[in-house]
Amino acid sequence: MNKWIGTANQGYSPYAIEELRRLFERLKVSPLAAGEVFMVESEVSPETFVDTISKERPAFLRHIQPVDRTFELQGNDADLERLAEAVSDAKSNLSGKDVAVHVRRNAKTSYPFSAADTKAALDRTLTECGAEHVVQSPDLIVAVYAAENELHVGIGSPKDMLSDWPGGAIRFQREEGQISRAKFKLLEAEREFGLDYANFRAALDIGAAPGGWTSLLLERGVRVTAIDPGELHPSLLGNKRLTYLKKNASDVKFQPDTFDLLVCDMSWSPMQMSRLVLDLEQALVPGATAIVTVKLMHRKPLQTIREVKERMSTAFVIRRSKQLFHNREEITLYMTKKDT
Ligand SMILES: C[S@@+](CC[C@H](N)C(=O)[O-])C[C@H]1O[C@@H](n2cnc3c(N)ncnc32)[C@H](O)[C@@H]1O
Repeated sequence: MNKWIGTANQGYSPYAIEELRRLFERLKVSPLAAGEVFMVESEVSPETFVDTISKERPAFLRHIQPVDRTFELQGNDADLERLAEAVSDAKSNLSGKDVAVHVRRNAKTSYPFSAADTKAALDRTLTECGAEHVVQSPDLIVAVYAAENELHVGIGSPKDMLSDWPGGAIRFQREEGQISRAKFKLLEAEREFGLDYANFRAALDIGAAPGGWTSLLLERGVRVTAIDPGELHPSLLGNKRLTYLKKNASDVKFQPDTFDLLVCDMSWSPMQMSRLVLDLEQALVPGATAIVTVKLMHRKPLQTIREVKERMSTAFVIRRSKQLFHNREEITLYMTKKDT
């Protein structure tokens, strides 16, 4: 059996587990942190496990790390020594590589060391292995999870772990004068879906206020038409590339082929949101990109996502559906408009 630690946004691990169960038979699952972190044991080879996940891209599984070694915690320096030994044993893998160390601690762990202490302690070991200890853009990550009474250690690539951030908890710098936290969602979507907003010419932002998403697209040089009955932040209003329609999105009409990007972050029922986006779809050029937040409400998330995808697929190709780290009770859909 191969062991992995899976992580989802708080409260969503049951759905990440459900997605994994649909991909792999006879999975053994046990919780590590309620609603968020769990251990899975799978019969398939590590290669098949990683390949299947990277092909199927589950929406709720934010991060997955291999468990190569597990040992009982002593609550003293012996823990660091065993960890260093485990890393030394992987010398042939690590040699010549840029290696980052990611440490996550369960709230109830008896592991007495902080992430910073652990990294400092492994510094010499990594050098002895012929590896470069880096923080950013590693080839490999030594992923350490300190559970209640055990330490789990595994080594893998950022791609296999689905992220180069510990537990997939990606952080962006908060900027001075930032209009909304919602901006982080659009930034994360850009990274997660491999997009570059600077490549777009004209965007339609539905449910734009107070304007975090609009401000990001304007910064990237895109012309933005922002629709919202609510107020946009005053700092945006003088921007020459901005058209602001202070209206309900169901009351606007555009010429065909006006936009090559649609973004929509309305906190609204998924079905009404879908109808609204589909009503405005004729304003998009064929192949246009759409980034849409889907609110999960209190209904079954997997079912909601399936229904929204079904509706949207009348006009769009669904590229990905993903609960981003910055999504709360929602997921983000990445779609492109069908060519015909
Ligand atoms: C979560 S906020 C959007 C935050 C925005 N993305 C940002 O970065 O600042 C949701 C917005 O959707 C707007 N909204 C809800 N229903 C709408 C509709 N039918 N037409 C246009 N805007 C709508 C609300 O007024 C609200 O300002």
